[in-house]
Amino acid sequence: MADRLRRIGVLTGGGDCPGLNAVLRAIVKTAAFDHGIDVVGIEDGYAGLIQDRMRPLEPSDVGGILARGGTILGSSNRDNPFRVPVDGEGDPAYRDRSTQCLKNASRHGLDLLIVIGGDGSLSIANDLKGRGLPIIGVPKTIDNDLAATDLTFGFDSALEVATEAVDRLHTTAMSHHRVMVLEVMGRYAGWIALEAGIAGGGDVILIPEIPFELPHVAAAIRERWFRGRTFAIVVGAEGAAPVGGDRVVASTVADSTDPIRLGGIGTWLADQLGKHLDMETRATVLGHLQRGGVPTAFDRILGTRYGVHAVQAAVAGERDVMVCLRGRNIETAPLEEAVRELRRVDPQGALVNAARSVGTSFGDRAPR
Ligand code: F6P
Repeated sequence: MADRLRRIGVLTGGGDCPGLNAVLRAIVKTAAFDHGIDVVGIEDGYAGLIQDRMRPLEPSDVGGILARGGTILGSSNRDNPFRVPVDGEGDPAYRDRSTQCLKNASRHGLDLLIVIGGDGSLSIANDLKGRGLPIIGVPKTIDNDLAATDLTFGFDSALEVATEAVDRLHTTAMSHHRVMVLEVMGRYAGWIALEAGIAGGGDVILIPEIPFELPHVAAAIRERWFRGRTFAIVVGAEGAAPVGGDRVVASTVADSTDPIRLGGIGTWLADQLGKHLDMETRATVLGHLQRGGVPTAFDRILGTRYGVHAVQAAVAGERDVMVCLRGRNIETAPLEEAVRELRRVDPQGALVNAARSVGTSFGDRAPR
């Protein structure tokens, strides 16, 4: 058993997603009710640690937030203690402010820090570890791309939104005999596109893990027409790319931990397919709608279990680990294992094979 914990800090980093407040609520209540530990909330992710913006979080502060989207603490997917921009002439200059962050944490009496984040925030946490502030990570992201866990919270809620979008697009696709392309998020992993495509019965699913060829995509749609199915739904992950081609980049965010913002594949695909096929095509970009709104029941429960376990692991003396879901159990894994590589879709895996068996094209081979 490690030294008794008196006060722990918590921050929510990276893109917001449904379920963050459920985790915060669970951390604050478990710490206070079961262990008599104080919790300090750090505002706007690592920005609050750098700028020393923290506030106590009492159980009364987290009442009524279980079903609320976003995060009551605020978040940031730009701020990195190891690379803080400083004002200067010409090109921006950067400073390592990690020591200052640790001093800020110590001034507030923090014995441990819980970082609720995706691979960017947890990679920073991994770099901060071993310097006197023990860390427990909680896996958050709609992208579901963190290693060492079967699921991140937030993914299920995003999947629900994306699936509903596929369902809704069927209406116009069928009525107007159109090809409707839906672009979904996910960065370099195709989990949202794959699972929403399967759940919504998409005809073509394009994911980063399986480079596609436009002629194959067009042939799959044309073949549907020959069978009398005069519409098609294409679900494209923002990170999907043609064989030998590049991903479509929407913008770059200079100071971000991951500066590349993907986006634009949907419009590009609709345009290209319009040229390959004599059919009307339209693109819909789901964007941040996937991160908004109330968490699903599944994410509320998973978030609660993660938050409770993070505090229990801390009290039990675990350090520099991430809570994770393995099968039906919540466990812990070393932080470095969680950030070593992204967890991506297995192109030969059971989910892809199941989709192929029901006739879904991934645009990588000619239709059967
Ligand atoms: O990581 C979550 C995510 O929503 C990705 O799916 C997406 O590529 C990215 O964040 C968008 O970032 P931003 O909110 O900065 O536009």
